[in-house]
Amino acid sequence: MMKCRVCETDCKMFLDLGWQPIANNFIARDQFPSEPFYHLQVFFCPSCFTVQLGECPEGRGVFNENYPFFTGTSQGMIKHFVQFSELIKEKYLPANGTIMEIGSNDGTFLEHFKNWEHMGFDPSESVTRVARSKGISVYPKPFETFPAKDSKRWHGATDVFISANTFAHIPDRHGVLRNIKIMLAQGGVWINEEPYLRSIIDKLAYDQIYNEHIFYTSIASMRNALNMHHLEIIDFEILPTHGGSIRYFIGHKRAEDSNGKIDQAVEHEGLNSFDVFQHFGQAVQRCATEFKKNLLALKRPVVGYGAAAKSTTVLNYCDIGPDIVSKIYDTTPEKQGKFSPGKHIPVVSYSQFAEDDTPDVVLFVWNHGREIYDKERYRTRNWLLPVGGAA
Ligand code: TMP
Ligand code: ZN
Repeated sequence: MMKCRVCETDCKMFLDLGWQPIANNFIARDQFPSEPFYHLQVFFCPSCFTVQLGECPEGRGVFNENYPFFTGTSQGMIKHFVQFSELIKEKYLPANGTIMEIGSNDGTFLEHFKNWEHMGFDPSESVTRVARSKGISVYPKPFETFPAKDSKRWHGATDVFISANTFAHIPDRHGVLRNIKIMLAQGGVWINEEPYLRSIIDKLAYDQIYNEHIFYTSIASMRNALNMHHLEIIDFEILPTHGGSIRYFIGHKRAEDSNGKIDQAVEHEGLNSFDVFQHFGQAVQRCATEFKKNLLALKRPVVGYGAAAKSTTVLNYCDIGPDIVSKIYDTTPEKQGKFSPGKHIPVVSYSQFAEDDTPDVVLFVWNHGREIYDKERYRTRNWLLPVGGAA
């Protein structure tokens, strides 16, 4: 039985995506025989409503020296962070305030706050090195291991905490929440954004499910976890990034019993009963079958666009190898010349894409669709989406 990481209740499984490799583990040919696999299954906790993976290789082993994701490589994300930093300066961060980022990556975000007291937390050496070269202060270890309780200097000292696409990666939720509770100033705010489970379900975006994302957030489950640490959701907004994200504004729990907007939102999102997830699990199976059928019906090899971590789930679940998708074009130098996890599709440099006249292209980075269709002259290709459809 799988116990909930938040409340230890027995969880219920609703989606089995089979044996999967580590999503970002792009490898060389000589590493094929020793490639690790794990069983990717998704569970719902009937007590606190947390949606989470079963056993999986922990993020900490994954976000190591070779972690190939640099925030600063996507134009769309850079723009997103610029807009977000303006909002924080206007509304949340006093001139003499302190801001901290959990999962500060290469410093793309904190770079906008060099004139404030700031600190980034990130355990991945390759990215913290880049952040430091930009003059950003980084604690190069997991935030949840920071000894906040013993460092009086930081008690109630942080006006703004930021985390974008990191909270879901950390198995020790209580460690994070405990430190935030200690370090957050009275009246301070933790702004946390991550892919929203409601959007994943509505868009059938099951490719968001892989070992790095241990949790899939709903307002209902977030409220319950925060409550265990006397924290609460003050407000939230829905964003288009990563195919549909939610940005929570979280503070110390206030005296009033309830927040009408949050109560209503929990009611409206409808993610607190198992049947919704069972239904989603069945829709994913149908979506995968349909996608593979469509590729095979073309009767000619196709190419892929963007060797995103999320392509790993689809390729392995649908059993699609290089005989069907002959190569994947990608802009990240660390991935080029390597092979996709599990199915071993060659990853090649994006610079050669324009010369490739293969008509059919699977857009694995569909969440950047608009940016890419503009760049690639949409009409010249037959773009195929790996996920989607009606749930
Ligand atoms: P993502 O994780 O931001 O969705 O994207 C992952 C990979 O996709 C990364 O290796 C970079 C690659 N990529 C491209 O090759 N071309 C593009 O236009 C975009 C947006 C991403
Ligand atoms: Zn639970």
